[in-house]
Amino acid sequence: MRKKPNLIPRMEQCAAVLESAPEERRGRWLSDFPAFSQLHLELGCGKGRFTAEMAAQHPDILFAAVEKVPDAMVVAMERVCARELGNVRFLDRDAANLLEMFAPGEVSRIYINFPDPWPKKKQFKRRLTAPSFQKLYAEVLVPGGEIWFKTDNLPLFEWSVEELRAGGWELREVTNDLHGQGISGVMTDYEAKFHAQGVKINRLVAVKREGTLCG
Ligand SMILES: C[S@@+](CC[C@H](N)C(=O)[O-])C[C@H]1O[C@@H](n2cnc3c(N)ncnc32)[C@H](O)[C@@H]1O
Repeated sequence: MRKKPNLIPRMEQCAAVLESAPEERRGRWLSDFPAFSQLHLELGCGKGRFTAEMAAQHPDILFAAVEKVPDAMVVAMERVCARELGNVRFLDRDAANLLEMFAPGEVSRIYINFPDPWPKKKQFKRRLTAPSFQKLYAEVLVPGGEIWFKTDNLPLFEWSVEELRAGGWELREVTNDLHGQGISGVMTDYEAKFHAQGVKINRLVAVKREGTLCG
């Protein structure tokens, strides 16, 4: 991604929504923010179209948006600030470090939208639906907690279905054409672009149950 001019001053302008030391909130997210009933995570929020719209539609939920590229995240932060949404915190971190930021059973739902596909076999372990990541999610989610996953990439989706089943998740709402009957749910930036090009969107919900493999 192209370097954004004035990244630092732009981040500082939105400092109110940036969580500079998320590790210190571990185990305390909902007690630190008692106005909210649940904590939802978004991994790789990018420029934040989904983040901002979900937060606006669900003011009772606290959204923690994790993004490892600040040049994308600053756009998401500006969107949230412009709409004066008080229920989003941005975490300038890698999803691989989730356990440093969230305690077991602290999270109700995780959104993974259009993650990098990592198409080569030797890169599969980097996919956000890879077994090592699944174990982190199972650790931080409540029993019955959910992963909401969307992608345009069919090979990644089919691989993820297999890997999630192997990890003991219950799969629901599995579809290869989410918007086949008209727009369904809140779109992300990538999703809006792909949908406009006529690309079909794959989606599933993975539910944590007793047999789900934890870290
Ligand atoms: C293809 S973009 C999709 C962005 C957004 N979810 C959307 O649908 O418009 C993937 C995003 O995930 C971020 N990302 C990839 N791996 C990540 C990781 N391990 N931790 C945090 N962010 C990650 C990338 O920096 C990028 O912004």
